[in-house]
Amino acid sequence: MNKRLEASWSNLRHFSGNIIITSFVRIFKVSILTAAPNLKILSLREPPAMNAVGVEQYGPIENLICRKIPKPDKPQGKELLIKVEATAVNPIDTKVRNGTYDDAPDYYKFVPRPFHIMGYDGAGIVQEVGPECTRFKPGDEVFYVSSPTKQGAYCEYQLVPEVTVGHKPKSLDFVEAAAMPLTYGTACESLLDRLEIKKGEKVGILIINGAGGVGAMASQIARWVLELPVVITTASRPETIDFTKKMGATHVINHREDLKKQIDELHLDVPIKYVYITYSTSQYLSVCSDVIAPLGKVCSIVQSADMNMYGTQFMSKSLAFIWCWLGSRMYHGVDTNQWEMLEELSALIDAGKIKCHLTRRLQLNLEGIKEAHRILESGKAIGKTILIRYDSLEVYQQYGSIIEQMTKDKFAEKGATEQTLFISMRSMPPIHTTSFVAPENVTVDDLKGVQFPEGVHVDIHQEA
Ligand SMILES: NC(=O)c1ccc[n+]([C@@H]2O[C@H](COP(=O)([O-])OP(=O)(O)OC[C@H]3O[C@@H](n4cnc5c(N)ncnc54)[C@H](OP(=O)(O)O)[C@@H]3O)[C@@H](O)[C@H]2O)c1
Repeated sequence: MNKRLEASWSNLRHFSGNIIITSFVRIFKVSILTAAPNLKILSLREPPAMNAVGVEQYGPIENLICRKIPKPDKPQGKELLIKVEATAVNPIDTKVRNGTYDDAPDYYKFVPRPFHIMGYDGAGIVQEVGPECTRFKPGDEVFYVSSPTKQGAYCEYQLVPEVTVGHKPKSLDFVEAAAMPLTYGTACESLLDRLEIKKGEKVGILIINGAGGVGAMASQIARWVLELPVVITTASRPETIDFTKKMGATHVINHREDLKKQIDELHLDVPIKYVYITYSTSQYLSVCSDVIAPLGKVCSIVQSADMNMYGTQFMSKSLAFIWCWLGSRMYHGVDTNQWEMLEELSALIDAGKIKCHLTRRLQLNLEGIKEAHRILESGKAIGKTILIRYDSLEVYQQYGSIIEQMTKDKFAEKGATEQTLFISMRSMPPIHTTSFVAPENVTVDDLKGVQFPEGVHVDIHQEA
C-alpha cells in the first residue's frame, strides 16, 4: 500500500531546528491521506497561533525561545491589533531578558507570565481597531511604542493602545520606521519636557554617548529642531565619531579620555547649560557637574546603583538633576500624548529634518533576535543597529525554488509522486508543505538523506 509522506521545508538560516518547524502559522495545513491510490481524503484546518520570541525564565541570551502562542484577542476599547512588520531591539530588551531591569523597583511584579515577549517599539499594519478608537482604520501603516509591562513586538500580532501609535512616515520603510519611536520618544521627552530646552537658546548641550540610539536622536533634536549652536557628543571609535557627526554633533569628544580637558580645549563661546547622560550615570555625574554652567540642568536615562552627588559641584552650582524614563506614564497610568509626539516625528522625518539612525537589519526570528541581543550586550551598537525585519518573503524568493527543486528531485528518484504544494509566505520563515505518495519500498529514512543548503531544515513525516 502506498504511504503518504509529508515534507515541510523552510529556510532556517536564522531559526533553530524543530522549534520553528512546529511554529508555522497562517497557512491552511493540508493533509491528504491515501489509504489506497485512488482514495483521497482532504482535511483543512487553520492553525490559530502565531510565532513569538520571548523567555519563560529570565537569564542569558540562550533563554530566548520561539513559541507558537495564540494570536491576541480582538482589540478592546482603545486598543489596536497590529500586524508587526518590523520591531526594534533596545537595551531595555536585554536587561528585561536578563532579569535585571531596574528602572522601576517592582517591575517584575507586573510582567506577562509565564511567557514574556520583549520588543518595545515597532512598525506594522493595523488589522483591527477597538470600538473606541478614533484615529486609525484597518490597513493603516503605523509605528509605535508599547508598554514595558505588556507583551512586546517580537511576534506577528500585537495589541497596542491607540495613544502610543502614530502614522508611519511615508518616506521610511517599516524597518526604518520601527527604529524611531522609542529612541526619539525618550530623547524628545528628555530634552523638551524634562530639561525644558527652548528653541534657539544660545547655549550648548553635552550628550554622553552620542552614537547610541537615544544619543543619535537627542543630537538631531538639539541641533535641527531646537537649533542649539553647540551640540557636543561623546564617542570613542572612528565609526561612532563619524556617525554622531552625521547625527548633528557640532563637536565630538572621547568619553575614554579626560572630558573636562577636551571641553576646555574647545574654547566654546556659549555656556554648556544642559547635559544629557545616556550611559552609566555614576561614571559621569562628577565630571558633568564640572563642565556644566551654574544653574544648569542634567538629565539622565540610565539608572546606576552607586550614584553619588556628594562632593561634586551639584550643590555649589545649584544644578538640577532630572530623571527621564519613557515608561513612566504607561507604568503609572498617567495620561500620555505619545501619539502626538509620533505624528510630529512623522512630519519631521518626511520633511527631512530628522534622519533615521538605523544602521543594521536582521531577521525577525529567533536567531536574528539572539544576534541583536549579542550586539547590544557587546556595547558596540551604533545608532539603531539592531532592527529586525519580518522578511520571509525575500528569503523565500532567494532560496525557495532551489529547495523546492531539490526535494522534488530526491522524492522523484525514489518513485514518489507529488500531491500538493503549499507555501506560506507570511510564516517565519516561509514554510512549504508538500505531500507525496510513496511506493511501498520507500521509507521516511530514505528521504531524510537529502543534502539541503546550509540552514535549510526539512521535516519529513509519514501519515497513516
Ligand atoms: N530611561 C529611558 O527611558 C531609556 C530609554 C532608552 C534607553 N535607555 C537606556 O539608555 C542607554 C543607552 O541606550 P542606547 O540605545 O541609546 O545606546 P546603546 O546602543 O546602548 O549605546 C551604544 C554605544 O555606547 C557607547 N559607549 C560604550 N562605552 C561607553 C562609555 N564608557 N561611555 C559612554 N558611551 C559608551 C559606544 O560608543 P563608542 O563605541 O564610541 O564607545 C556605543 O556606540 C541604555 O542603558 C538604555 O537602557 C533608557
